[in-house]
Amino acid sequence: METPEQRIKVAVQKTGRLTDHSIDLLERCGLVLTKSKDQLICYGENMPIDLLLVRDDDIPALVGDDVCDLGIVGLNVVEEKRLSMEQNGSKGQFKQIFELEFGHCRLSIAAPDEARYEGHNSLEKTKIATSYVGLLTDFLTKNNIDAEPVYFSGAVEIAPKLGRADFICDLVSTGSTLKANGLSEVETLLQSEAVVIQTLAPLSDEKQALVDKILQRLAGVLRVHDSKYIMLHAPRSALADIRALLPGSEAPTVMPLEGNDDKVAIHAVCRENVFWETLENLKAAGASSLLVLPVEKMLA
Ligand code: PRP
Ligand code: ZN
Repeated sequence: METPEQRIKVAVQKTGRLTDHSIDLLERCGLVLTKSKDQLICYGENMPIDLLLVRDDDIPALVGDDVCDLGIVGLNVVEEKRLSMEQNGSKGQFKQIFELEFGHCRLSIAAPDEARYEGHNSLEKTKIATSYVGLLTDFLTKNNIDAEPVYFSGAVEIAPKLGRADFICDLVSTGSTLKANGLSEVETLLQSEAVVIQTLAPLSDEKQALVDKILQRLAGVLRVHDSKYIMLHAPRSALADIRALLPGSEAPTVMPLEGNDDKVAIHAVCRENVFWETLENLKAAGASSLLVLPVEKMLA
């Protein structure tokens, strides 16, 4: 059994929009998890990897301070931490590895529905309530706008009603929070999604090997995301046309069909979803016996 220091620790959002997806993603990498009684840790049963369930805003610092080796967190949180550290003259001790294709949202400035918005000028000499002071300050500076960020740790959307700010700058996902509060988006500062970050602290060889393995599996899980395995029969003469119609597939496998010299079987992995239109086009090009299957795992 490994000592606690030899186990990989991954920081994951405790409760929120990234939680279920993050855990699901790691489970699809083959990790079998059990939750501790206090719900703060998920222990890896089949690999020395544990998840720490924490507030998302704390994840960059936990990874930066080397308490955790990896973290799964929104790019919005990562960028905010990076900028606020930069603005304080310190350097982030983590690196961003890759985007995870879930948790999509954006950081936007929103105005009360009744307010007139005529571009950046409308922001001059106003107060903007936000939890993202770093990102907002960066946007204001880059656009030469003289406005004052007002820090709110939560419930940013009520600031205009309270008379504490003219605008807000907050995350928008479905847009229902803005709508419920009579606000409309006027500027988008950042498009965000979940990302993996890794500590810059050097890891032991064993730990680094395990981190590499889990990152490779994550990449594999992401790659199959929309991938489909397609099988069909085609006249030899239509081979070129049919290959051109297969969406996002490299070198398909072409096999002879027993007792039929004019036709071949084609198997291909398509790196994109295969829609009905594609199948109809393939059929029109001469394909028959079309079959589309989901891909579960892929290793390059
Ligand atoms: C964000 C944001 C809004 C809400 C917007 O909070 O502060 O309250 O989501 O989402 P909607 O457009 O789908 O209504 P989040 O749930 O990320 O919590 P946090 O910022 O406190 O982590
Ligand atoms: Zn948060």
